[in-house]
Amino acid sequence: MSEEKMVGFFVSVEGGEATGKTTLQQGLYRRLEEEGWGDYLPSEEQISRLHEPGGTRLAERLRELLLTKEFEIDEVEAVLMFNAARSSLMRSLIIPLLREGKIVILDRFVDSTLAYQCGKGTLSFDDVERVNQFGARRLYPDLTLLIDLPVEVALARRQMNPWDRYESRDLAYHRKVRENFHRIAQNNPQRIVMLDGQRPVGQMVEEAYLALLPRLRVHFQMDKASRAKGG
Ligand SMILES: Nc1ncnc2c1ncn2[C@@H]1O[C@H](COP(=O)(O)OP(=O)(O)O)[C@@H](O)[C@H]1O
Ligand SMILES: [Mg+2]
Repeated sequence: MSEEKMVGFFVSVEGGEATGKTTLQQGLYRRLEEEGWGDYLPSEEQISRLHEPGGTRLAERLRELLLTKEFEIDEVEAVLMFNAARSSLMRSLIIPLLREGKIVILDRFVDSTLAYQCGKGTLSFDDVERVNQFGARRLYPDLTLLIDLPVEVALARRQMNPWDRYESRDLAYHRKVRENFHRIAQNNPQRIVMLDGQRPVGQMVEEAYLALLPRLRVHFQMDKASRAKGG
């Protein structure tokens, strides 16, 4: 898979709990549709499956096991289960969409596993990164939009609903997750664009769109040019 050139464009949206990831994903797809990118967009049904963990029958089942507190799952097991779900989603949805030349905007991906599963201090970035590479079938995003938000602000947005396994961990854990996201961003400056999650939704979508647009233009023009040359 690492050798194959994907014709589509792969974006991941990352950040902690309730930072606005799903809101941004939905807003960006709507914006792209309005701007005339309709031919490059997945169907509504496909878009509804573009989130991790989940998006296939197997991955949704793994999601339930991971997020409910039914089983005791340690961080090694969690890394493997998140990546089992990931490889299922890659194989049956994301890789086919990218082969068709679509714009895939995925709600959470490898950086969440790195930030969360290294949040307890028991696992190294290197170990988790290796498993992530394998689970992602060596296909990493062309662009990652990382939403940064103070933990207190984010968790206040979630106060109404019952909390899952990760949401219910303490503030110190969530601060460590945020710190890990910062470290990942520093390590991947070409791939990751950080967005200020405290801005209103409309501004977030605009800022993300302005980061995405030039990259889409370059990506899809280069593809057209190489096809015109018969490459
Ligand atoms: N930029 C924003 N400013 C204020 N509230 C927001 C913003 N983005 C999302 N929200 C609200 O915060 C909550 C969590 O947003 P959501 O997109 O579901 O986050 P996530 O997918 O990261 O958990 C929702 O109630 C949503 O309406
Ligand atoms: Mg969400």
